[in-house]
Amino acid sequence: MRVLGIETSCDETGVAIFDSEKGLLADLLYSQVSMHAEYGGVVPELASRDHIRKTLPMISEALRVSDSLPGDIDGIAYTAGPGLIGALLVGASISKSLGLAWGIPSIGIHHMEGHLFAPMLENDPPDYPFVALLVSGGHTQLIGVESPGSYELLGESRDDAAGEAFDKVAKMLELGYPGGPLIAELAIQGQKDRFVFPRPMTDRPGLDFSFSGLKTYTLNTIQDLNDKSGITDQDRADIALAFQTAVVETLTIKCKRALQQSGLTSLVIAGGVSANLALRTALQSMTDRLSASLFYARAAFCTDNGAMIAYAGCQRLAAGQSEELTINARPRWPMDTLEPIK
Ligand code: KG4
Ligand code: ZN
Repeated sequence: MRVLGIETSCDETGVAIFDSEKGLLADLLYSQVSMHAEYGGVVPELASRDHIRKTLPMISEALRVSDSLPGDIDGIAYTAGPGLIGALLVGASISKSLGLAWGIPSIGIHHMEGHLFAPMLENDPPDYPFVALLVSGGHTQLIGVESPGSYELLGESRDDAAGEAFDKVAKMLELGYPGGPLIAELAIQGQKDRFVFPRPMTDRPGLDFSFSGLKTYTLNTIQDLNDKSGITDQDRADIALAFQTAVVETLTIKCKRALQQSGLTSLVIAGGVSANLALRTALQSMTDRLSASLFYARAAFCTDNGAMIAYAGCQRLAAGQSEELTINARPRWPMDTLEPIK
């Protein structure tokens, strides 16, 4: 089965073609980051307009790159949510229209299920069941994954997502957008333990997260330095390291707890923040100590992409799932309400 995947939930247009026999045949990404950078974050209206400009030409290019004709495509998968409603509607409308024109089924995919499946595109993918840490700009969740499509929410952030906290702290440090990779880069120059930031909610039981207090703590530290003698480049690097270390340790403590509570021995990390090297290193040591295994995707498949949506769509379409012609876009969509795949 050959599936066209379309991702337009936020500020990247991703178009890919996944073949269940031959693997990934095309994977194109257009990032709007430079357009949004001057506003310090994603401007929803501009995002929708840019998806409209880019999606169809990218589909045409993906067909060319994969040596496919429209008649070779068996189904279309698009991100139906969660995300920016205008941006989602672009991908949904194009997918439904092409599905109707080509006479093939289409299916709306949950963006975080797409992320969760990204490590399946790598060699040596995880076996089910496993614990998944989904860490992106919009979500921080621990999920128990029993089988494909069968998800149990174990814990989630009560306020900011981890990626959102990275982005906001980067803004406080005047680093630019998106903040995660910029903080990670600056943290390399930071002096260890000059600042020690709190590890929120780690001293009580449970698997929920909270990152907004850590963000405020960071802001207060920056303001104190500014009030004293003005913040220096070294201060910025030290704060970037202290913040990143606090997020990484908090995530690691909760992942360890989720593995121990569930008795599972595989941890999958996915979403933009799973590209963070300090996080990968800390989770690798933790899983090694527990004799558990850690799985993640290459960096390009941690952040938004069309390949993960094409892959997820292929699993669902191959299981006989598809949708009516109604256009389906859901800004909010709990993942544990999804239909199991098998
Ligand atoms: O999954 P993603 O591309 O989009 C959403 O679904 O939100 O995640 C984007 C988020 C941003 O907040 C970005 O700052 C963060 O992932 N991110 C990182 C890194 N690369 C991307 N955070 C920490 N370290 C990174 N290397
Ligand atoms: Zn994402």
